[in-house]
Amino acid sequence: MKLILLGAPGSGKGTQAKFIMEDFNIPQISTGDLLRAAVKKSSELGQEAKKFMNSGTLVPDNIVLQLLKERFGQKDCINGFILDGYPRNLTQARDLKSITDIDLVINIEVNYDLLIERITGRRTCKQCGAIFHIKYNPPKERGSCDNCSGLLFQRDDDTEDTVKKRITTYEFETKPLIQYYQRQGILESLLSDGTIDEMYQKVSSLLISKFQ
Ligand code: AP5
Repeated sequence: MKLILLGAPGSGKGTQAKFIMEDFNIPQISTGDLLRAAVKKSSELGQEAKKFMNSGTLVPDNIVLQLLKERFGQKDCINGFILDGYPRNLTQARDLKSITDIDLVINIEVNYDLLIERITGRRTCKQCGAIFHIKYNPPKERGSCDNCSGLLFQRDDDTEDTVKKRITTYEFETKPLIQYYQRQGILESLLSDGTIDEMYQKVSSLLISKFQ
């Protein structure tokens, strides 16, 4: 099962990917997470990436492709993967095509008014990466992860100004991929207009109908 989750910043790609990963036993590959790990390590690549991430623009394609190829080389990808945040423009889609085929692209559609509230209220666990929301999915104890008691933090790029820039970047660079994958006949769009659990019902029903 080789999947791509497509959608605007805050549409819920990471949240849904974590459910799919558990139920279908395939790894989530988030290029955002790979880049944040490189930034944390303060590697040369990470320092270069940080400038782009904090300004809400895309990190250069060659940097992301390098990280992705390293990740694909790990053996947990053998039965498939969920790509979360890749590809993000046509060049990346073509790069991906030269490395692997894709079975299904799930395009998560969300009313733009909801995105800023979702992102600015997001809290992420420093230790295990679990995603919470102060209103829509609050942790049992404020600031502490339900799964591992790790510290919850707000991402550097989750400020209102950066989110607006990220949405513009999505509009111009990533949105054309909807048509690109539609033409290949592998795209399914799902509207995220309910709770996290309701959205996962739609996602899992789609996956079951396609793959089982
Ligand atoms: P990345 O980390 O990929 O961020 P993004 O695409 O902007 O997406 P987000 O992680 O913000 O949102 P999400 O859709 O995963 O939503 P989530 O599930 O967390 O990229 C960050 C940066 O890295 C980019 O700007 C770029 O600079 C760089 N980058 C990454 N990949 C790149 C690439 N391929 N090429 C170049 N540069 C790249 O949900 C958001 C919140 O909403 C959470 O709090 C969640 O609890 C809540 N929520 C989710 N679903 C619902 C629901 N149904 N109802 C209510 N709340 C909900």
